[in-house]
Amino acid sequence: MGDFLLNINGAEHHLKASGDESLLSVLRNRLQLTGTKYGCGEGQCGACTVLIDGVATRSCQATLASTKGTRITTIEGMERNGVLSPVQQAFLDAGAFQCAYCTSGMILSAIALLKEHPHPTDEQIVESMDGNICRCGVYPRIVAAIKRASQLSMKGGADHAHG
Ligand code: FES
Ligand code: FES
Repeated sequence: MGDFLLNINGAEHHLKASGDESLLSVLRNRLQLTGTKYGCGEGQCGACTVLIDGVATRSCQATLASTKGTRITTIEGMERNGVLSPVQQAFLDAGAFQCAYCTSGMILSAIALLKEHPHPTDEQIVESMDGNICRCGVYPRIVAAIKRASQLSMKGGADHAHG
């Protein structure tokens, strides 16, 4: 057990836990930030993706100890004052989900992609999102949503990310 101070979505959280505990477990089971989903638990599906210092990271594979001194962003940190981030809005507009279990991981991965490539090609989107699995298979709408998000961001919306 150790004492940890986490910066999540711009807020500080103190907690006592084992440094070996996964960040996903801490988010969901200790902080009730359940927008981040448990899929495979093995780094293979992307459902648990969060941003750590702006980098899309599988939270099931990140230990609590490894997050020391970082800034973590989860899906709960995307909306500001009732306004969705451009990527969230684009996913809604494009209807880029069915059951939505994969959606928060998709959105966080898309934000990291758009930071690196503000106007990605279809090929860049497919390549970058390859590690995020959607069991409902709405991939074409996810690609459309990311392209739409790139247009919305161009119109002046920030991505609202804290990391
Ligand atoms: S739950 Fe982390 S990658 Fe699947
Ligand atoms: S919308 Fe159901 S898993 Fe992607």
